[in-house]
Amino acid sequence: MKIYILNGPNLNMLGIREPAHYGNETYQALIDRIESYGKEKGIVTVCRQSNHEGDLVDWIQEAYFEGADGIVINPGAYTHTSVALLDAVKSVSLPTVEVHISKVEEREDFRQISYLRAACFKTITGHGTSGYLEAIDALMALRAEAQTT
Ligand code: DQA
Repeated sequence: MKIYILNGPNLNMLGIREPAHYGNETYQALIDRIESYGKEKGIVTVCRQSNHEGDLVDWIQEAYFEGADGIVINPGAYTHTSVALLDAVKSVSLPTVEVHISKVEEREDFRQISYLRAACFKTITGHGTSGYLEAIDALMALRAEAQTT
């Protein structure tokens, strides 16, 4: 099983940016944790981060062409603005989980809209960086379910 883990703008600043919302773990420490979790579960994790919307669109398409089984995406602020990311996820029809480290539903009004959510089978918010591992579990469970039906 192969899963793309995509992170949007400013997530490379984890550990530095607003620790009250995003905690103290650095982006690199998060990626190390995701990769060792993937190894433990026997899956390939392809981890990418960009501050540019088009890169994220390209990687969603790449996930499809590389035969990925699913996508975990934290689009950062593009969650609240990007129809392009919604269209990209709809285009590839890969099972996708939306992750937010912070509890977005308890934050500003402008964070209450997620364009991407309509194309995701699950959204995880406010579980800190563990949300990424939960998203991997959700994709594995979905696949296991599909194999038994
Ligand atoms: C975020 C929440 C977004 O509103 C914000 O713009 C981010 C991070 C989160 O992980 O909680 O960059 O996606």
